[in-house]
Amino acid sequence: MKKSQTRRTFIKTGALATLAIPVLGSSVISCKSEIKQETTDTSSKKLKILILGGTSFLGPHQVAYALSRGHSVSTFTRGKTLPSVHTELFDQVEQLIGDRQDNLTALENRKWDVVIDNSGRKVEWTRATANLLKDNVGIYMYTSSTGVYYPYLTSDIKEDKKLVLEMPKGLSKNEQYEQEYGVMKANSELEAIKVFGKERTIVIRPTYMIGPADKTDRFIHWPIRLAKGGEILVPGKKEDPVQYADVRDIAEWFIRLAENKQYGTYNGVGPKSTQTMQQFIKEAAKTFDVESEFIMVDDYDFLIKNKVYYSVPWIMGGKKNYGSSRVSNSKSIAAGLTFRPLKKTVKDTYDWWISDAISEERRQKFEANPDTLFLKEKEILENWKATKS
Ligand SMILES: NC(=O)c1ccc[n+]([C@@H]2O[C@H](COP(=O)([O-])OP(=O)(O)OC[C@H]3O[C@@H](n4cnc5c(N)ncnc54)[C@H](OP(=O)(O)O)[C@@H]3O)[C@@H](O)[C@H]2O)c1
Repeated sequence: MKKSQTRRTFIKTGALATLAIPVLGSSVISCKSEIKQETTDTSSKKLKILILGGTSFLGPHQVAYALSRGHSVSTFTRGKTLPSVHTELFDQVEQLIGDRQDNLTALENRKWDVVIDNSGRKVEWTRATANLLKDNVGIYMYTSSTGVYYPYLTSDIKEDKKLVLEMPKGLSKNEQYEQEYGVMKANSELEAIKVFGKERTIVIRPTYMIGPADKTDRFIHWPIRLAKGGEILVPGKKEDPVQYADVRDIAEWFIRLAENKQYGTYNGVGPKSTQTMQQFIKEAAKTFDVESEFIMVDDYDFLIKNKVYYSVPWIMGGKKNYGSSRVSNSKSIAAGLTFRPLKKTVKDTYDWWISDAISEERRQKFEANPDTLFLKEKEILENWKATKS
């Protein structure tokens, strides 16, 4: 893989990260006990919320928080993806079936206060649902991404940055993949705003979300690796920043933004203050009571040679990725985005991973993947030590 490849490409191609864990066989479904039925609700009005999607990663956490605040929730999916957390709450959810591609019948002639568009994968999908719902729904919330800022050429990237709306010519295949996602999200945002108007639209641009129910397996390396202890390879230069957001912090903030009608566009980015990869690892490691020694591998050429391009939240820097972990969250914090402690994120994600919420097959598949950092770690560390001797 070439140095010029971008962060989502690395992730798509699944180059690295992870390990095999002895399955501890917990029966805990980590998010179940998390739900606090909030008796003191700050919103005066109980909202009727429609989530397009809602059964994958972000959605179940939005469902849990919305219900805890007394709102009612409908989801709209094809009925294929089943939630892996908060499953018991879905009895209280109206589950509408259709397809954003060609069947929106279940959404016709219905009224909601808020629609949350999590499943936007095509600009036309957002245009179609926004047009269908505009007279029957108050607020359109579009789940975008910091991917709209690709290429990430600057730091302190704020919401008013000019976005790329058309595919530039001359991109490599990998750059094209990354850029297409950003262009799709940027144009989808515009469609929502065009149809609902700025005064009825909220756009959230999350960075990498981490936490229970993550379907991507791109962060789970760290909880399971840190739980094991010993010599741990930490990729990246000393000054490499990282950004991530606990999925629950983002999910809960969505609902509060809707309650408070805080229209506008916001980056969904944590942690609160600047953090390097080394600081991240040291803090995350405190989750587990095991002895660890961190081996910082800071030579990009060596990492590339050993096919270590990313391990979320660390993404290898480079011209087009320079600002990918330098996105501003000042507007979002002012608008109520909060951050739970990293140790809680790591612990809950680990507990979820070893619980019955995850199939044994999925764990084993992950553990057996020869491209994972976990499986390659020992050998890479030996190579690294050899360069130092
Ligand atoms: N994960 C991250 O770190 C991250 C970062 C930035 C932005 N985002 C954005 O966050 C959003 C939410 O991500 P997520 O991972 O929670 O969910 P997701 O995987 O994007 O969405 C899946 C949901 O959409 C439904 N769905 C998929 N295709 C559909 C179709 N053709 N018609 C109707 N429903 C369909 C799925 O149910 P069925 O399969 O049953 O239809 C499921 O409920 C996405 O827009 C993503 O781009 C994610």
